[in-house]
Amino acid sequence: MYLTNPQNYFHSDAVFDNLFPVHIQKLSAIHWTPLNVAITAARFLTAGGNAKIIDIGAGVGKFCIAGSFFTNGYFTGVEQRKNFVTIGNKVIKQFGLNKAELIHGNFTETDMAPYNGIYFYNSFHENIVHADSLDEQVDRSSELYNLYTQHLLAQLNKMPIGTRLATYWLSITEIPACYKMHESHYNNLLKLWIKDY
Ligand SMILES: C[S@@+](CC[C@H](N)C(=O)[O-])C[C@H]1O[C@@H](n2cnc3c(N)ncnc32)[C@H](O)[C@@H]1O
Repeated sequence: MYLTNPQNYFHSDAVFDNLFPVHIQKLSAIHWTPLNVAITAARFLTAGGNAKIIDIGAGVGKFCIAGSFFTNGYFTGVEQRKNFVTIGNKVIKQFGLNKAELIHGNFTETDMAPYNGIYFYNSFHENIVHADSLDEQVDRSSELYNLYTQHLLAQLNKMPIGTRLATYWLSITEIPACYKMHESHYNNLLKLWIKDY
C-alpha cells in the first residue's frame, strides 16, 4: 500500500483499520485501543519529556503508531504473537515512523529499565475469559493470568518515582498504592497515573 498522507488514516478508527488485513480489522472493536483514547494516553505519558513508552501487549501496534504520530515520545510495543508484530512493523515502516517499534516476545522477559512510561490495555484478560481470545496461537490459562499479573505488579513497584502509567479497561484488582491517579477519561475507562514513591 502506498501512503500519500498518513494523517488521513487518523480520521477515524474505521479508516485506520483499513491499514490492516481483514482478520486484524475484525479484532479492532474489542482488542485495539480507540484512536482518541490512544492519543489522550500518549499525550499524558509523554508530558514529562524524553519519553520512552512501552505498550505491554501491543497487538498490531495501534497505540504505538498513534502515540508516535501525535507526540515526540519513543514507543516500543512488546507482543507475544509474532504475526501481529510483523503486520504492525510493516505499517510503522509505511508511515515512516522512526520513533515506534514492535518487538516480538513475552512481557515477562522484557527489561523495563529503558522506559519511563507504560501503557496497559488489559492485555492478560484472554487468559481468564477464553471467549475474548484474539486467536488460538498462544497458551491461555488462569495460571498464566496470575503469573503475568504478578509480574506486572512487581515491575510497577520497581519502576522509578515519576514513572507515568496509563491503564485502559483495567481488570487487575489494583495498581500499587505508590501510583497516584491524576486523571481519568472516557467514563473512567482510561486512568492516568504517576508513581509517587
Ligand atoms: C487487548 S490487546 C491490546 C493491543 C494494544 N495494546 C492496543 O491497545 O491496541 C492485548 C495484546 O496483548 C498481547 N499479550 C497478552 N499477554 C502478553 C504477554 N504476556 N506478553 C506479550 N504480549 C501479550 C496479546 O497477544 C494482545 O495482542
